Amino acid sequence: MSYIDIEYPTDKKSFYKTLGEQLREYAWSERNAYASMANASAVLKIAFPRANWAGFYLVDGESGELVLGPFQGRPAVTRIGYGCGVCGTAWKEESAQVVEDVECFAGHIACDCNSHSEIVIPLRGGDGKIWGVLDMDSVDEGYFTDADREGLERVMAPLAMRGIG
Ligand code: SME
Repeated sequence: MSYIDIEYPTDKKSFYKTLGEQLREYAWSERNAYASMANASAVLKIAFPRANWAGFYLVDGESGELVLGPFQGRPAVTRIGYGCGVCGTAWKEESAQVVEDVECFAGHIACDCNSHSEIVIPLRGGDGKIWGVLDMDSVDEGYFTDADREGLERVMAPLAMRGIG
């Protein structure tokens, strides 16, 4: 397999159609979920040129925390408590978080001082339980919008439903 660079459309609808196709080809086609998440991180980092971090945190049933999963970007905090930071909040509230300015999010966990905005999408398995989150950071303030929340929830659905079991 060799990755072929493509130009992503600028309008959101076409962008998410193309992103969905890229994820199907490079990530969801693999049956191992960790390999899928690794390539999904790479695809997302390419698709969002102003993103400096794209990756996954996974629910660790033993410790009751989120633990770092496959990602692209600078080294990051390895464990996040339930309800802590943007990721732990998305997990606890079972809802996506779109953070325009990370400085304004109480309890935000800073991993890269270049990050100014963030989006976190909880991943809900076929059994209805959250098993992880997708996390993306951007160097721009207000980079992620509600349209991105909707688009990312949609393109992540195949992985979310499948889970890591
Ligand atoms: N900012 C996240 C921590 C993870 S890093 O962004 C990669 C948070 O507040 O949960």
